Amino acid sequence: MKVMVVGGGGREHAIIRKLKENSSIEAIYALPGNGGIAADATCVSIAATDLDAIVDFAKANAIDYAVVAPDDPLVLGCVDRLNAVGIPCFGPEAKAAIIEGSKAFSKDLMKKYGIPTAAYEIFTELDAAIAYLKTAPIPTVVKADGLALGKGVIIAQSREEAIEAVTDMMANAKFGKSGSTVVIEEFLTGPEVSVLAFTDGNVVKPMVSSMDHKRAGDNDTGLNTGGMGTIAPNPYYTNEIAQECMEKIFLPTIRAMKAEDRAFKGCLYFGLMLTPNGPKVIEYNCRFGDPETQVVLPLMESDLLTVMQATTNGTLAETEVKFADQHACCVITASAGYPESYQKGFEITMSDEACAHTYVAGAKLQDGKLLTSGGRVTGTTAVADSLEEAVREAYRLADGVQFEKAYRRSDIGQRGLAALK
Ligand code: AMP
Ligand code: GLY
Repeated sequence: MKVMVVGGGGREHAIIRKLKENSSIEAIYALPGNGGIAADATCVSIAATDLDAIVDFAKANAIDYAVVAPDDPLVLGCVDRLNAVGIPCFGPEAKAAIIEGSKAFSKDLMKKYGIPTAAYEIFTELDAAIAYLKTAPIPTVVKADGLALGKGVIIAQSREEAIEAVTDMMANAKFGKSGSTVVIEEFLTGPEVSVLAFTDGNVVKPMVSSMDHKRAGDNDTGLNTGGMGTIAPNPYYTNEIAQECMEKIFLPTIRAMKAEDRAFKGCLYFGLMLTPNGPKVIEYNCRFGDPETQVVLPLMESDLLTVMQATTNGTLAETEVKFADQHACCVITASAGYPESYQKGFEITMSDEACAHTYVAGAKLQDGKLLTSGGRVTGTTAVADSLEEAVREAYRLADGVQFEKAYRRSDIGQRGLAALK
């Protein structure tokens, strides 16, 4: 079987390594992949958003199954285009990917179907947004409607800051078209949990829960990033809460999407906040999270390709989705300066042991050398019987990944360990 994975970050590397456990796969192509992924798949230099080139490549190479991992090709309709030429895919069609592609859509969906989320208002006119903010409770949360590389969310601590945020989005087009509509919502508090779930449109099977560490600095200080590390399972996510989420959030969401004729197939990511008033949805993503995938898939015992195909074929009910009763920790090594400006082009060296536990996110191969080419460069994951051991081991292994100006948070997993005590 020939499989193609669209995307080229740490998440895609984790997906490819896991897929490789299936011996029926004879070739894996990554579009575009990266210098580190090249050790595990054939990288093809086609951008993840170049849908014409992706379809041409898939046809020319008789691809049997495609995994579309990032949000932008999904929202652009990559799965629709591949399905149209007869190639089965893992991932939602565009009409279902809108659950991430438009926050206004997802908020209205939750309101219509009674799914718990922060109270909100949607604005398409700047004047109306500013008028509303003059009396809105502070802090307040301003979100650009569309995809904004994870940067379209502003937690405003003052009215002035909130007004500046909506003005930037709506009048100054800070996020392009993504910000012409804004959602202004209630500020919620509580621990955050990421739950990725497989779904075939009817049945939903959650994966092990996880915790991201989004801020750049230790003790959750500094700027928001794509994620500086993860642990799984998330200690705040008890069996009782999991059951409540299944009944009040996961199943109602899958049913709502089906009722709207937007049946969702693939991986639906629930970004949850465990508020004093129960779990609420902070965001939906139409794809695997990154770096959540880098702790979730190493704990997966079932065959990934089999489960993915079950979401495509509508046979998830009969397919086992099993996770090890263990703990995982992933430590991201980034380029100093990330998420703002940083230098690129430094050679990366890894011990063999570190390499076997490391997913590469931002690197390219040049003259046989692996060079840094992004903000987040690698994710190193350890699996162990306790969280404490997984954290210790992930840091020990990450020390085997070296390059100039490498930066890691030193406290990944500490909040989780404190919660266990
Ligand atoms: P998002 O891009 O939607 O994941 O938002 C980024 C981060 O902003 C989330 O992980 C939360 O930490 C925070 N956030 C988003 N919405 C809210 C909210 N309504 N209340 C408090 N924090 C929020
Ligand atoms: N780690 C957050 C995300 O993938 O959106």
